Amino acid sequence: MYNPLSSSIVCYSPRISVIGAGRVGSTLAQRIAEKNLADVVLLDIVQGMPQGLALDLMEARGIEMHNRQIIGTNDYADTTGSEIVVITAGFPRKPGMSRDDLLKTNAKIVVDAAKQAITHSPDAIFIVVTNPLDVMTYLAWQATQLPRDRIMGMAGVLDSARFETFIAMELGVLPGDVKTMVLGSHGDLMVPLPRFATVNGIPLTELLDTDTIQRLVERTRHGGAEIVELMHTGGAFFAPASATCMMVESILLNQSRLLPVTVSLQGEYGLENVAIGIPCRLGCGGIESVLELNLSDEERAALYRSAESVQNNIERAQEILKEHPNF
Ligand code: NAI
Ligand code: 2OP
Repeated sequence: MYNPLSSSIVCYSPRISVIGAGRVGSTLAQRIAEKNLADVVLLDIVQGMPQGLALDLMEARGIEMHNRQIIGTNDYADTTGSEIVVITAGFPRKPGMSRDDLLKTNAKIVVDAAKQAITHSPDAIFIVVTNPLDVMTYLAWQATQLPRDRIMGMAGVLDSARFETFIAMELGVLPGDVKTMVLGSHGDLMVPLPRFATVNGIPLTELLDTDTIQRLVERTRHGGAEIVELMHTGGAFFAPASATCMMVESILLNQSRLLPVTVSLQGEYGLENVAIGIPCRLGCGGIESVLELNLSDEERAALYRSAESVQNNIERAQEILKEHPNF
């Protein structure tokens, strides 16, 4: 007779830790749990806040019909054994600020968070979200000394989603039918690639004239700032959380999606000592491969401008962190 108590099936639920339980972090926790992907540990420096958010999310489980655990904590010991760690800790920008203005404050926060998290989860894959994104990804990679396939930044998925939204709004088509790739840094020098944009396989250049495409490219470049200006306090968090969740899902479910991901380059596109967004396949090992697109001279020059500005900010950040014990 079947005896459930003697069953040898081991129930296992993956664990994802989200460092920083602010707007992006808490919305990401909600997305992960409600998609039934994994248990979530939500960690923040503020006492009580992640615990309260976790309890609130737990109380929604019966309505949302999932049974994932959400734990709120201020203690990295609770993140032990995470498969994925997402770092959203740090300050968002205020109106008039660029992402680079956040460099000084957020560099220390991200380096400390990465070092503490890896102590408890040495096998985890890391996704950095904190701005300025490309610099923070590079610093976290340096601080943890992880293979670069296991530490990446989220930006291109969000920037591509914005470009897709603006194209869909212009054409009056379903956003999911529009596919784009936005490469480079997560800032005004990002590199949207209209040549690679399609609507269900039809090149964008067949559907819109050059001036209109350029207008949508510019709106994409300033997509984050547009929301900061409207909101006055803080920035976007719904779409950033969705974009991060897409990366988490591709890794956790080994989907091998080809997505724009910020990664420390090791000679690809002729670049090194810098992290910027390029197309990568994301699976259970993290970044499984990086794709070198055959860029036009103009596209390549734009990518180099983007990389150069990130490199300058990495040098500034390294100077700031010179005396920091965790770096
Ligand atoms: P938020 O202010 O709502 O949340 C940040 C949280 O980090 C706060 O709860 C704060 O207490 C916590 N925190 C600060 N220092 C910490 C530490 N040492 N350890 C643990 N937690 C700490 O900000 P929001 O809107 O959630 O944004 C978070 C970051 O993500 C910002 O830097 C923002 O610019 C960036 N961001 C990046 C995007 C991207 O595309 N890469 C998109 C959206 C936001
Ligand atoms: C965004 O693009 C601020 O990086 C953030 O919305």
